[in-house]
Amino acid sequence: MNSPKIAPAGQDRHAKGLAGVIALNSSICFLDGRKGILVYRGYRIEDLATNSTFEDVAHLLWHGHLPNEAERTGLCDQLTSLRDVPEAVLDMLRGLPSGNNPTGALRTAVSMLAHYDPEADDMSSEANYRKTLRLTAQIPVLIAAFARLNQGKEPVAPRTTGNTARNFLYMLTGEEPGPCAVEALDAALVLHAEHGLNASTFTARVIGATLSDLYSAITGGIGALKGALHGGANTRVMLMLLELHKSGEDPEAFVRRKLAAKERIMGFGHRVYKTLDPRANVLRQMLLELGREQDAMHWVDLCCTLTQVVEEEKGINANVDFYSAPIYHLLGIDANFFTSLFVMGRITGWTAHVLEQWGDNRLIRPRAAYTGPMGLKVNR
Ligand code: CMC
Repeated sequence: MNSPKIAPAGQDRHAKGLAGVIALNSSICFLDGRKGILVYRGYRIEDLATNSTFEDVAHLLWHGHLPNEAERTGLCDQLTSLRDVPEAVLDMLRGLPSGNNPTGALRTAVSMLAHYDPEADDMSSEANYRKTLRLTAQIPVLIAAFARLNQGKEPVAPRTTGNTARNFLYMLTGEEPGPCAVEALDAALVLHAEHGLNASTFTARVIGATLSDLYSAITGGIGALKGALHGGANTRVMLMLLELHKSGEDPEAFVRRKLAAKERIMGFGHRVYKTLDPRANVLRQMLLELGREQDAMHWVDLCCTLTQVVEEEKGINANVDFYSAPIYHLLGIDANFFTSLFVMGRITGWTAHVLEQWGDNRLIRPRAAYTGPMGLKVNR
C-alpha cells in the first residue's frame, strides 16, 4: 500500500476567494470599499445616476468619455436599429419547458445568438464593437420576450424609437410606460452597469483572454451572475420580502431565526464594501420616492426594519440587490426576472472589460495550492 506524503509546505499561502488580490490593471472602474465610493471612468456613481442616462454610461464605459450630443444621438440610433432578434432564438425560448429559470434561458439565448451572427468569430476590434452594440440592443428584447412567453403571451416586437428602459417596459406590457417608471429603470441600469472585477466580469475577462469570442465571454458572465451570491440575490430578496409580507412574520424574529440557523440574509454583505454600498444608497432614495408615489410604503418600512436588525445583529449593510428588488417589484416586474435585469445593465460593463482585455491581452491562468497526496504509485 502506498503511504501518501503531504504536499510541500508553504503552498497554501493564498487569498481564499482571491479576496483583495489585484489581478490586472483597468481604467474602467474604481471602488473604495471602506469609504463606499464607486467611480466609472472618473465619474462618481451618484452623479451618473442623477445626471446621465444608461446610453450615456454605455458610451462612457466603451469609449472612455461621456458622449457629446452627436455621439449620444449616433449611439441611440445604432442601438434602436439593432433590436431585432432572430426568429429561431425566439422559437427556442417558446420551446423551453415552463418554469424555466429566466437567467438560464437568457444565457442559452445569448449563446444561440452567436450562431446567427456572421461576425461571431471575427476578432477585429470593429466587429467586436458591433457585437457589443448588438448584444446591448438585443438582451432586453430577449428578456421581455421570455417574460411574455412565461405568461402565455406572445412577445411584443421592439420599437425603433425610445431608450433601452422605455422600450423594455413597453415590450413587457405592449403599453406605453409612465415617465417615472422609465426614469427609475434607467437609473437602475446605470447603477448596475459596472462594478470592477466582480465574479461575472472576471469570468467574462478570463474567457475573453483565451481569445474565445464575445458571445462565449458574455454567456459565461451570465452563468456567473446567475449565482445566489452574486446577481441571483435580487430575486431571492424579493421572494423573502413577499414571504414576510404575506406571512406577517415579525421581520426582527425572522432575521434572528435565520442568523441563528447560520443562514445568509440575501441582499446583505459585500466582498468589497465594508460600509454602505453607494448603489444601495441611491436605490434606497429611489425606493422611498416610488413607495410614496405608489402608496406602497409598506415595502419601505419592511426594508428599513430588516436593514436595522441585520446591521445590529451582524454589522453588515444592505447591498445593491436589497433595494433593486422592491424597486423592480414596484415597476411591475416578476421577481424571477430580476437577475435578467441585472444582465441588461451589466452587459455594458462586461463588454467594456472584454474589449479592454483584448487591447492588451495575456492569458489569465492562476495556479492552485495543491493539498492532495504525493508520491503514490500505481499497483499493477
Ligand atoms: N447574511 C448573513 N451573514 C452574512 C451575510 C449575509 N448576507 N454576508 C456575509 N455574512 C457573514 C458570513 O456568515 C461571515 O460571518 P462569520 O465570519 O461569522 O462566519 C462573514 O459575514 C463574512 O462572510 P463571507 O462569506 O466570508 O464574505 P464574502 O466576502 O465571501 O461574501 C457575499 C460576500 C456577497 C457573498 C456575502 O455577503 C453574501 O453571501 N451575501 C448574500 C448574497 C448577496 O446579497 N449577494 C449580492 C452581493 S452584491 C451584488 C453583486 O455584486 O452581485
